[in-house]
Amino acid sequence: MPHRSAMLAPLATALLLAACASTPDGAGGRAITLRDAAAPHGLRIGTAADRSFRVPGDSADAFRAVMAREFDMLTPENDLKFVRLRPTRDTYSWERADSLLAFAERHGMRVRGHTLVWHSQLSPWVTEGRWTREEATALMLEHIRTVAGRYRGRLAAWDVVNEAVADDASPRETFWSTHVGPDYIELAFRAAREADPGTPLFYNDYGNEGLGAKSDSVYHLVRRLVRGGVPIDGIGFQMHLRADRLPEQEVLERNFARYAALGLKVHITELDVRVQQPATAESLARQAEGYRRVVAACLETPACDAVVVWGFTDADSWVPRFFPGWGSALPMDEGLRPKPAYHALLEALAGPGQR
Ligand code: G3I
Repeated sequence: MPHRSAMLAPLATALLLAACASTPDGAGGRAITLRDAAAPHGLRIGTAADRSFRVPGDSADAFRAVMAREFDMLTPENDLKFVRLRPTRDTYSWERADSLLAFAERHGMRVRGHTLVWHSQLSPWVTEGRWTREEATALMLEHIRTVAGRYRGRLAAWDVVNEAVADDASPRETFWSTHVGPDYIELAFRAAREADPGTPLFYNDYGNEGLGAKSDSVYHLVRRLVRGGVPIDGIGFQMHLRADRLPEQEVLERNFARYAALGLKVHITELDVRVQQPATAESLARQAEGYRRVVAACLETPACDAVVVWGFTDADSWVPRFFPGWGSALPMDEGLRPKPAYHALLEALAGPGQR
């Protein structure tokens, strides 16, 4: 099925490219950006941001300028997570999240809220405390009501529950699943809807982009929620990919389609494509192909209206810390120079033949 904007986007992008071709560096003296190229498709292109956003000095200024120029969506990489917001039981610490939101709103960027209920990055006073079922349930609901309530009406989406399925496709055992019980997911979505009725609510996971046991397990979980009348509006595919093991575009599309058939939106929420170090021209070309495929699959999916990269410069990425020997996962290098992956994103968004 052609995408909803299939008739308009090629014309709009052709006009955009023609305008940009009129000067050496683009329309009105500036080059076409990712957000320029995504907009005619009704697609948001986003990035996560954390440390580099606020280190003092020139590098943060350059980082912020490129971020606002290229992206029209922003996900706080860590600042809306439990441990950042709630260092102690009685304190909420809003400054960092508030400053990211204010920046995004000043620059016409929509914000994805990430994340309300997750097993990781919980404060020690939670994980080391003793909790009855009632107390843990009250804690989770109070957290959701407070955080989602504070930002009510300002976000493009909330990742309500993150990574509830384990790598072996079984339900992940977490603080929340063991203390609140298996219905914690449903309770979380209902509380988020009450606290912020207008914001689309997402389930978000990794390793669910291809077809296989974990992907099926995530699908069955989400389908159960939809059929049970739980307020869920979308599925997030994190897409932390390896350049040497890229999923086929056609597989991505088939997988996205089964969620779309449930009436859900599809977001690519944390895209990066890591390569073994040292990177070579060949591995970076493969990486570029990964970025291209994901955007192309999204463009072929009417329900897919956001692609978010998990950081945009190799100067600031979670990958080298978590996968020793791997890195260079993002579309710009350490000096904020576009890599082949950046050009692949731009071409996939602005090139001919797309929706
Ligand atoms: O801010 C502190 C700093 O004060 C301290 O000195 C330093 C010492 O290690 O730690 C800093 O916090 C780190 C934080 O990133 C910011 O850099 C944490 O240790 C570190 O654990 C944290 O890692 C984050 C990771 O989630 C935690 O699991 C990554 O930045 C973040 O990219 C990553 O994001 C997750 C998504 O939320 C969910 N999907 C997977 C994705 C990648 O793991």
